[in-house]
Amino acid sequence: MIFYFSGVGNSRWVAQQLSQQLGDQLRFIPDEISTPMSYELRDGECLGFVFPCYGWGVPVFVERFIEQMQVSGGVKYLYFVTTCGDDTGMTAEIFCADAVRKGWECKAGWAVVMPESYICLPGFDVDNKEKENEKIMSARDRVNRIIDDITDRRCGFDTIPGPMKWAKSHIVRPFFNRFLITPKHFKTTVACTSCGACVRACPYSNISILSAQRPVWGDVCVQCMRCYHTCPQHAIEWGRFTRGKGQYLFPQHLFPKKQ
Ligand SMILES: Cc1cc2nc3c(=O)[nH]c(=O)nc-3n(C[C@H](O)[C@H](O)[C@H](O)COP(=O)(O)O)c2cc1C
Repeated sequence: MIFYFSGVGNSRWVAQQLSQQLGDQLRFIPDEISTPMSYELRDGECLGFVFPCYGWGVPVFVERFIEQMQVSGGVKYLYFVTTCGDDTGMTAEIFCADAVRKGWECKAGWAVVMPESYICLPGFDVDNKEKENEKIMSARDRVNRIIDDITDRRCGFDTIPGPMKWAKSHIVRPFFNRFLITPKHFKTTVACTSCGACVRACPYSNISILSAQRPVWGDVCVQCMRCYHTCPQHAIEWGRFTRGKGQYLFPQHLFPKKQ
């Protein structure tokens, strides 16, 4: 069974590849929170989590889901795959600690470098088309190797800690989660046509348009930036620093889902 979250589609594509080739059920975390969140693993079935790396760690709402879910049938092989734009800091250690709190042992974890989706701070922007294509092409081979590793139930961690991993995951991450994961700074420019694309795109149904006004953001925002990247008018801003930045969505048409 594979649980996943994805904002701009990178982790969704990875999770779909895993599910198709391993024959494992796929579950989208936002769809699960209104259910009893109790799951039963078949004999020998592994438990996997696929998510984007946020602030050099596991996204807090993914950690909360893991904390609240109930799994019966025995978790024998637990793994994660995190997608990232650059590096993952201590995401592996953070995920392993989350698992230990559940009484589980995480056996393996991988990072897959994919196109950048974070654009809210100075110095962060989407990749240019050439880099985007390069990242997607190498991700294809990487995901196939990960699928082989999972099939063989290999143990070990192959993430991309990057420089200053401790400081990023233990000093910057708490600050990031406390002050930068917030819907407060979302607004639209005059280019907004109230078309509703952002409302339909939000995985947590956190955006509404009341009586043909501009979109408003509620409190349940995980900062996946799907609304910003989806807007056909490029009319969504978050604070001052998204101005002039690019948009990116995983080009699903390149790899259509097998039936
Ligand atoms: C809020 C936020 C935080 C991010 N933090 C990191 C990070 O710490 N390290 C990194 O390499 N990429 C980071 N990224 C980039 C994403 O991890 C990367 O683009 C990922 O593949 C997006 O996956 P998705 O399409 O499943 O949303 C961040 C993106 C967002 C939106």
